Amino acid sequence: MENLIDRPLHEVDLELLEITLQDLERQQHCLTLIPSENYASIAVMEAQGSILANKYAEGYPEARYYNGCQFMDSVESLAIERAKQLFGVDHANVQPHAGTQANMAAYHALLEAGDTILSLKLDHGGHLSHGLKQNFSGRYYNIVHYGVDPDTERIDMNTVGELAEQHRPKLIVVGATAYPRQFDFAEWRVIADSVNAYLLADIAHIAGLVAAGVHPDPAPHCDVITTTTHKTLRGPRGAMVMCRQEFAEAVDRAVFPGLQGGPFMHSIAAKAVAFKEAMEPAFKEYQAQVVENAQAMADTLKSNGLRPITGGTENHLMLIDLSTSYEKLSGRQAADHLEDAGIIVNKNTIPFDKRSAVTTSGIRLGTPMVTTRGMRESEMRTIAELISETLEGRRNSEVKKRVKAKVSELSRQFPIYEDLRPVS
Ligand SMILES: Cc1ncc(COP(=O)(O)O)c(C=O)c1O
Repeated sequence: MENLIDRPLHEVDLELLEITLQDLERQQHCLTLIPSENYASIAVMEAQGSILANKYAEGYPEARYYNGCQFMDSVESLAIERAKQLFGVDHANVQPHAGTQANMAAYHALLEAGDTILSLKLDHGGHLSHGLKQNFSGRYYNIVHYGVDPDTERIDMNTVGELAEQHRPKLIVVGATAYPRQFDFAEWRVIADSVNAYLLADIAHIAGLVAAGVHPDPAPHCDVITTTTHKTLRGPRGAMVMCRQEFAEAVDRAVFPGLQGGPFMHSIAAKAVAFKEAMEPAFKEYQAQVVENAQAMADTLKSNGLRPITGGTENHLMLIDLSTSYEKLSGRQAADHLEDAGIIVNKNTIPFDKRSAVTTSGIRLGTPMVTTRGMRESEMRTIAELISETLEGRRNSEVKKRVKAKVSELSRQFPIYEDLRPVS
């Protein structure tokens, strides 16, 4: 029987290898400003692509439903202990496959179907797992939303308090997918306590900032914390749920057997690696630079007449309201024009948007990836100028060509994954 196991990808599937190399080139030569993405380290990717993917390990360390799990126990315990140390929490479940599943597990642990959740409106920056009608969250729970104030475009804590008083939610969710300001979790705790609600912080976007201490810490104030591991935290695609000891058993039962079967042990291994990297001093410097870079970019865009929602940013992202400078230009069109010039952003609704979620009046930009490449404030100012130039000259292909050449040059000066070459 022919051995099909020991051959490398370039001998088995050139078609797939070719596509991967094309995206490697795109990742290397474009400037990606999508705030929810990052470049995972080679070490993280090595763990994620390892033989650990081969093992079924349903259950938890020391309590598995399969034999042969002694090393899986070591892997998962390592990830758990590092997560607890990194975020200063009592308990961590590192098995959720993605952020949506982590939120699902948290709700499953704390609530019954039909219970009330108070969370941020989706078109004001909330996430679909915080109550979109078509999502499980909107289907199985009674969702009440708070939004941002029309003048300040910030969450008004008085309004949150009033809504909590009026609707008596069992759970308050604090966290966002497109909100450029910090959360003061202590204030949220006061509101949660006033109505006897659980408090969940979804730090999917800001986990890296929190781990590095450049964003207020949810751990002392929240009952449960959910996060993805692949955004600012710069780990593998995946998620986790952290909580106070009193919720540990309910959270673990909610993840398995409640919602998932076998954990992705290769992903858990890669999470362990990412948590170790996040404890290094260089990671703290990186996260501080992510925020400084975002502020530099927002300032330059603002000087060029592009309005950042709330006037700026305190984290890794900014939301640009295109409607004030280009009435006819939608977020979708702007993102496409920028892609023509090698700059990757995503369209995003802005608070009180007159356009739909498919068209949008805004674009969302973030600095995690360009900062991973080693760029600093001066490059952010350059990128902001290139964005303005592209939008201003969007109907002129020469402008886009010129910007693209500058994007390529900048990408070459700050290379990424230089040693990743096709194996020959
Ligand atoms: C705040 C927040 N929560 C949860 C998620 C869900 O993560 P995933 O896409 O891994 O399901 C996201 C993803 O964008 C997010 O921004």
